[in-house]
Amino acid sequence: MPATVLVGAQWGDEGKGKITDLLAGNYDYVVRFQGGNNAGHTVVHGDTHLALHQIPSGIMYENVCSVIGNGCVVDPKVLIEEMDNLAELGISTDKLLISSHAHLIMPWHIDMDKGAEVTRSAHSIGTTGRGIGPAYRDKISRDGLRMCDLLEPDYFRERVSELLLVRNEELKDVYGTEPYDVDEICELYAGYAQRIGGQIVDTVTLLNEAVEAGKSIFFEGAQGALLDIDHGTFPYVTSSSTSAGGACTGSGVGAKWIERVLGIAKAYTTRVGSGPFPTELLDETGDLLTTKGAEFGVTTGRRRRCGWFDAVIVKYAVRVNGLTDICSTKLDVLDGLEKVKICVAYDIDGKRVENMPDTLSAFAKAKPIYEELDGWMSDTTACKTFEELPENAKAYLKRIEELVGVPITLISTGPDRDQTINNGW
Ligand code: GDP
Ligand code: IMO
Ligand code: MG
Repeated sequence: MPATVLVGAQWGDEGKGKITDLLAGNYDYVVRFQGGNNAGHTVVHGDTHLALHQIPSGIMYENVCSVIGNGCVVDPKVLIEEMDNLAELGISTDKLLISSHAHLIMPWHIDMDKGAEVTRSAHSIGTTGRGIGPAYRDKISRDGLRMCDLLEPDYFRERVSELLLVRNEELKDVYGTEPYDVDEICELYAGYAQRIGGQIVDTVTLLNEAVEAGKSIFFEGAQGALLDIDHGTFPYVTSSSTSAGGACTGSGVGAKWIERVLGIAKAYTTRVGSGPFPTELLDETGDLLTTKGAEFGVTTGRRRRCGWFDAVIVKYAVRVNGLTDICSTKLDVLDGLEKVKICVAYDIDGKRVENMPDTLSAFAKAKPIYEELDGWMSDTTACKTFEELPENAKAYLKRIEELVGVPITLISTGPDRDQTINNGW
């Protein structure tokens, strides 16, 4: 099994961290290929609780090499804090490697991210405020700085001097924030270089030599399909390619090595930030999902919006990612509900629509058409096999499989690594 890609199949927070931690031990490398510290991936193993933002969720395994790929944007300050937190828990980050081509999040990106949200006014995205959009903007417009630039202080200084001439004007005139000083920035980033410089390497060559030598790679996606810059609910998306294709561009490993694409989908739906959400529940069932599912953001602490499972968006995620497998997470959160609903299609202007609408305005008008199923009134958190699940929970999962057309080969019924059912993975 040379390479497996794991991606979120909804709007993020599907439990990617838990499943990556569960599976990572079987691979030689675990690679993040996009996003930055906007991600918040939770790993629970017994008494150990980790909230990871930039570091791959395979870090618990000493034999696994964790890689931050070229498609990522990295805030070195946050990365170093995260490394220090792990060290305090006795988890080594010695085997963490960072792509020399990953782009740097600079302090002005954070100001611009927050400032842009204000100027967007009624159309604010609800970003995590971590500087992600502006860092990717600078990458695409070729005004970004990369990890390798940290290792060449003279070049770094030249570029920072050039960039700040323009950025400081923009900060002052557009966002009304303070300018940055070239010397201070260079000193700050020289400190980061001293700390993590030894871990910045050519990960493209490293990963390709690894697969050529028969080693295996697990790609850990961040965010989810509906937050993808191309395929998501634009403009209410993040700024990277969250779908499986991003694993190739964001690591330099070719598509021929990828054998399985695992989509993580909650047994219901959540979304943080703005944008249409057809199955959102603004009633006591929504509150119950938020409370029972502990649906509060790992990165920003924001309350996540909750709703029923939406088969239309997950079927879309199956397509844009080429999913071969699905892992259904948080099934236990639905335990004890008398009835459960699945959105099988939308009603848009009186027409039944079974595929993801092409425009945001149509999606915003989509009213869910539900199928109601009997719930299961028993606890699933200790079930170890598919057979042990309550009959109605099995029927619920089977119906989802039928609707989205991909087998559910993993089922998660609790946050711990052990609370997972292997159903053919
Ligand atoms: P990620 O961003 O996709 O890694 O997901 P998050 O970590 O942001 O959010 C998932 C949350 O659900 C975390 O608090 C996990 O510990 C928790 N979790 C994961 N799987 C399950 C599950 O099957 N049941 C329950 N109850 N919690 C889960
Ligand atoms: P994980 O990896 C859920 C959302 C933000 C906002 C939009 C843009 O934990 O699943 P950004 O800061 O990226 O420019 O914000 O994307 N968002 C996430 N939502 N989970 C995430 O990551 C997210 N990362 C970004 O809430 O709506
Ligand atoms: Mg998360």
